[in-house]
Amino acid sequence: MSLNAIAQKLVEPGKGILAADESEPTIAKRFAAIGIGNTPELRRDYREMLFRSREAMTRYISGAILTEETLKQDGADGTAFIALLADSDVIPGIKVDRGTFPMPGSSGEKITEGLDGLRQRLAEYAALGAGFAKWRAVITIAEQAPSRNAMRANAHALARYAMLCQEAGIVPVVEPEVVGDGEPGDHTIERCQEVTEETLETVFNELRLAGVDFTGMLLKPNMVLAGHKAARQADVEEVARRTVETLRATVPAAVPGIAFLSGGQTDEEATAHLSAMNRLDGLPWKVTFSYGRALQNAALRLWSGRAENIELAQAAFAHRARMNSLASLGKWQG
Ligand code: 13P
Repeated sequence: MSLNAIAQKLVEPGKGILAADESEPTIAKRFAAIGIGNTPELRRDYREMLFRSREAMTRYISGAILTEETLKQDGADGTAFIALLADSDVIPGIKVDRGTFPMPGSSGEKITEGLDGLRQRLAEYAALGAGFAKWRAVITIAEQAPSRNAMRANAHALARYAMLCQEAGIVPVVEPEVVGDGEPGDHTIERCQEVTEETLETVFNELRLAGVDFTGMLLKPNMVLAGHKAARQADVEEVARRTVETLRATVPAAVPGIAFLSGGQTDEEATAHLSAMNRLDGLPWKVTFSYGRALQNAALRLWSGRAENIELAQAAFAHRARMNSLASLGKWQG
């Protein structure tokens, strides 16, 4: 399949992406919250529960972002996860960044690492069947941040990653996340809009310079939101309007799709915002979800590490996936 065909399929109407690529420290945190340890077997059982949710996976999910462990893992009965996903016509994706580290010369900002050896890793992932990849950069809002330096360094890394992906026949999902759930978290929505616009402008300039084919990539941005401790919280319509305004100003129409991260919003907020955006006229790209927490929160809690809860958890996952599918069509009603 061409890069453009894969990208189009990932954002086909009524479908979105399941982000199930929590790193070990992150999944350890999620598991600790439901009172279970973090072992390879529990990680396998949890993700198998998601991937075997037939209704969610066949009807509402186009692609699943995996860690390297999951990409190479088998379910409890020996079926490769890759085969399970193929059976539901879900494209496997792979998180290829190696996480965020302190940005040299800056206090509190982050730079994403993982470019060394990436060409070889991508060749291996492509051979295993990965159709797309993800790299997350974090842009921090604080009194002294973001700095131009951190913004440019992160954008440059995203562009090198994206070009390497396309050379390997893998669709890059480019994720510059302006963090909305960090501390102090009291920034205004106006500030988030300003920083998001500058971030996306910087990222697309670097992508252009690197020679990235816009028709063979997807963007995974944050929504424009006030910090969780901000005095004024915007309503759903304002979030949708400001987010789309920002994207229109920065994202070329040649990009086939925009798949949002949920970034600590409640499940319903993430759905409501997505639906409101899709009710706006004349969007030049498909606008859908690439949620981690907002798809998994309820299912994770219900599962709680116990086999007898699998069906309940799968029903909760299918429900969230269905609601977000409706939202991707602008048809969700609260
Ligand atoms: P959340 O939707 O939980 O923010 O996760 C999406 C993701 O993939 C972040 O990299």
